[in-house]
Amino acid sequence: MNRLDGKVALISGAARGIGAETARLMVEAGAKVAIGDVLDERGRETVRALGDGAIYLHLDVTSPEDWNAAVAAAMTRFGGLDILVNNAGLFLGKGLEEANLDEWHRLVAVNLTGVVLGTKSALPALRDSGVKSQHGSAIVNLASVAGLVGSQLDPLYSLTKGGVTLFTKSTALEFARKGYRIRVNSIHPGVIQTDMGEQTFAARAHNLGSNDVEASRRVALSAHPIGRLGTPNDIAKGIVFLTSDDAAFMTGAGLVVDGGLTAQ
Ligand SMILES: NC(=O)c1ccc[n+]([C@@H]2O[C@H](COP(=O)([O-])OP(=O)(O)OC[C@H]3O[C@@H](n4cnc5c(N)ncnc54)[C@H](O)[C@@H]3O)[C@@H](O)[C@H]2O)c1
Repeated sequence: MNRLDGKVALISGAARGIGAETARLMVEAGAKVAIGDVLDERGRETVRALGDGAIYLHLDVTSPEDWNAAVAAAMTRFGGLDILVNNAGLFLGKGLEEANLDEWHRLVAVNLTGVVLGTKSALPALRDSGVKSQHGSAIVNLASVAGLVGSQLDPLYSLTKGGVTLFTKSTALEFARKGYRIRVNSIHPGVIQTDMGEQTFAARAHNLGSNDVEASRRVALSAHPIGRLGTPNDIAKGIVFLTSDDAAFMTGAGLVVDGGLTAQ
């Protein structure tokens, strides 16, 4: 179950957090993994812990040149590309009245343009490998619960993640219509304990009119009926499933991994 033997994956924003844990589980599941990020030192450290099954590549997801170079490097090193995880993302944590236009453009560049460029750059390689494998190749896009329901903390982030949710469904349909054997699915985490998770606690504390991050963490916790916050491992397991042949009949779907947050 959930094996990725012989597969090659490229994961954006995987120097730390959910992406790094996904890389670790993918290597454990038998895949070769290329990690791209702008945090070069952290990315190299993450790769060192993974051994021969992983390489680090400098990849700013807003740059078409970086994407093309990353796809080429992954293919040269590992002989193909079967899986793309569009994981890199930014959270702003400001209300509409506080956010400025430059901040919005930055969010769009990373959370939306980054996903479009990644999908476009990897498409020829994924199309080729899809033909050769029994259940095709796979893309997973990191959306969020904030791409399914409104966000009290960050309407601009929510707007970008809503875009990722529908881009996932639309590309799944486009590729299927064209006969490409590429499955495209999104994953929708609740609040996950990463650097970005910490950023959400700080934003919530600010909104509550205090700097009490612990109180803010408790409020976030109480929004998750399952009784705890998520871990990178909770999400990485979902991503490995979606990219494996166990999800062979899934495309255009969203996997919600949120401890019950959006069930209420
Ligand atoms: N943590 C959460 O609560 C949560 C919830 C829902 C969705 N998500 C989504 O999951 C994904 C991973 O988040 P995380 O919690 O691991 O966050 P994180 O901040 O720990 O990691 C994000 C990574 O993206 C990288 N990144 C940022 N800009 C980049 C760029 N221009 N090019 C390449 N890499 C870039 C960062 O350097 C970092 O390594 C994001 O898309 C995020 O929106 C996170």
